Amino acid sequence: MIELSGVSKTYGTAQAPIHALHPTDLKLDEGQVVGLLGFSGAGKSTLLRLVNLLETPSSGRVSLGGQDLTGLTAAELRQARQQVGMIFQQFNLLSSRTALENVAFALEVAGLAASVRRERAREALSAVGLSDKEAAFPAQLSGGQKQRVAIARALAMRPKILLSDEATSALDPHTALSILRLLKQLKRERGMTMVVVTHDIKVASYLCEQSVVLEKGRVVDRIDMGNPQPVSRLGKFFFETARGWTDDTELPQEDA
Ligand SMILES: Nc1ncnc2c1ncn2[C@@H]1O[C@H](COP(=O)(O)OP(=O)(O)O)[C@@H](O)[C@H]1O
Ligand SMILES: [Mg+2]
Repeated sequence: MIELSGVSKTYGTAQAPIHALHPTDLKLDEGQVVGLLGFSGAGKSTLLRLVNLLETPSSGRVSLGGQDLTGLTAAELRQARQQVGMIFQQFNLLSSRTALENVAFALEVAGLAASVRRERAREALSAVGLSDKEAAFPAQLSGGQKQRVAIARALAMRPKILLSDEATSALDPHTALSILRLLKQLKRERGMTMVVVTHDIKVASYLCEQSVVLEKGRVVDRIDMGNPQPVSRLGKFFFETARGWTDDTELPQEDA
C-alpha cells in the first residue's frame, strides 16, 4: 500500500543545508499501522509528509497502492492524494465554519459535486460520533471533539491511508485514549493503513504493529510492538519511559 525507497529530504537554507531525513525505506501492507517515534526535530513529520508528497523528496521513490507518485503531474498528484487523509496536532479547522461546513468544505476543495458534499460530510461526522454537533463552531467544541471533526474531514474522501501527525499530543490522556480508540476502530472496521507520528510510546504500543524509531534524520530501530526488542539506545529509552523515569534512567542523547 505504501512503499518508500531511499527517500531523503535536505532543506536548503541560507546557512548550511539541513539533512532532515537521510535515505530511508518504509513499506506498509494494506491495513498495517506503523508508528514513527522520535524526539522533536528527528524528521518524523518530514517522513510523514513525504508519503503523500507534501514534501518533494531530494532522492528516492514513493509509491502508493502500486502507483509511483514521483513522476506525476500536479493534477495527477492531486488525484492520487485523495486516497490519503491527514490529521494534525493543531486540528486546523476553519473557525468561521461549523463542523459540517468544515468537512463539506474539504470536499469542495477536492472537487466533489455540491449535491453529494452535504451527505458525505454528514456520514463522516456520524462515523466519528458527532452527528449532534453538525451546527457547532470550533470554538464551541472541546479539543477531542475538534479532533473528531478533523478526522471526519480526513475520512470524508474515503481514503485508504490515514497519516496522523501527533494527533493526540495536545489532548489530555482521557481524551487522547478516546481518539486512539476511534483510530483503532477505523483500522479494524475499514482496514485503513496508517502512519502515526508520535513521541509517546503509549500511543505506538496501543495502535501500532510496528514502530520505526528516528533519530537525527535516520532510522535507528524498527520494533515489532507485539514483541518489542529495541536495539538502539533511543528505542530502549522509549520503553523505559513507559515504565516511569527513575534517577538511573539514562538519557539517550547528551544534548537533549
Ligand atoms: N521547511 C523546512 N525548512 C528548513 N528546515 C526544516 C523544514 N521543515 C523541517 N525542517 C528541519 O528538519 C528537521 C526535521 O524536522 P521535522 O521533520 O519537523 O521533525 P519532527 O517532526 O521529528 O519534530 C528539523 O531540524 C527541522 O528544523
Ligand atoms: Mg513533527
